[in-house]
Amino acid sequence: MKALVYQGPGNKKLEEMRKPLLRDATDAIVRMTRTTICGTDLHILKGDVATVAAGRVLGHEGTGVIEEIGAGVSRFHKGDHVLISCITACGKCGYCRRGMPSHCESGGWILGNTIDGTQAEFVRIPFADTSLYLIPENADADAMVMLSDILPTGYECGVLNGAVKPGDTVAIVGAGPVGLAALLTAQFFAPANLIAIDLDDNRLEVAKQFGATRLVNSSDGRAAERIMALTGGKGVEVAIEAVGVAATFELCQAIIGPGGHLANIGVHGASVTLHLEKLWSQNIRGWWTPLPRQCS
Ligand SMILES: NC(=O)c1ccc[n+]([C@@H]2O[C@H](COP(=O)([O-])OP(=O)(O)OC[C@H]3O[C@@H](n4cnc5c(N)ncnc54)[C@H](O)[C@@H]3O)[C@@H](O)[C@H]2O)c1
Ligand SMILES: [Zn+2]
Ligand SMILES: [Zn+2]
Repeated sequence: MKALVYQGPGNKKLEEMRKPLLRDATDAIVRMTRTTICGTDLHILKGDVATVAAGRVLGHEGTGVIEEIGAGVSRFHKGDHVLISCITACGKCGYCRRGMPSHCESGGWILGNTIDGTQAEFVRIPFADTSLYLIPENADADAMVMLSDILPTGYECGVLNGAVKPGDTVAIVGAGPVGLAALLTAQFFAPANLIAIDLDDNRLEVAKQFGATRLVNSSDGRAAERIMALTGGKGVEVAIEAVGVAATFELCQAIIGPGGHLANIGVHGASVTLHLEKLWSQNIRGWWTPLPRQCS
């Protein structure tokens, strides 16, 4: 089969590989029908994610058809159309039982990280019963791929951690798929203003189509100044970081108003300063850790 293989920082290669085999009774082998590229894959390629070794098949998202199941799989059959969660969950360990499968003692975010992933023709999914979801007939196959990671990440790690509420001004830094997912799902909570910030005008245009009320291209280095002006000098109620570099986390800190919530989604490969010398008295609430379900 063909697979996209990480070759160390800056390098990847489409390679011919052996098709994966069932290893444990709870495994399934899935023939991939759709996959996508997460910003986390880009961080891996930059060398930001130390757990990914050279030789690893990338990818933790996608849909497919079950090709083979182990003797211990009871919820799925050969031929089922399934959604692959970016999180592998045993469903039995303490973390899974506490609703934190991203810390599963035998799973978590392992696909395309510590085991071979989904950017391949076939993938082995451990704990298939609790890591796959049956796709309803007539579901939009392209939209389904967004549910492996991107949409729930934007929603859970961005919007729920940021505790968006009616009337809020929400700034989303990064208008990639994950930032756009936060932008879409923030609208469940009726914020008054949604400010999208990115370096790329094309992505900002998409953000506008997805409901952003203000667009800020931050390439001139004046984004903080402009957002403070837009908010009458008060700052925003919720700042969602969806890039994963120091500059954007710094921007979130610069624009957060008193009592505000800062939710970090980005995967960071370098340390970032938390400016407690400015924020200590501001009643800021920050979330740097992903919510239970999410990857990386
Ligand atoms: N916590 C989790 O569970 C989880 C899950 C999925 C993705 N992520 C992370 O979320 C982040 C976003 O993912 P994505 O798939 O949308 O990535 P992406 O690379 O497609 O999008 C990032 C966006 O940020 C913009 N950008 C880059 N540098 C910027 C800067 N200095 N200022 C403003 N904008 C800038 C880019 O133009 C791009 O539009 C990544 O860090 C990814 O690793 C985290
Ligand atoms: Zn991801
Ligand atoms: Zn578990």
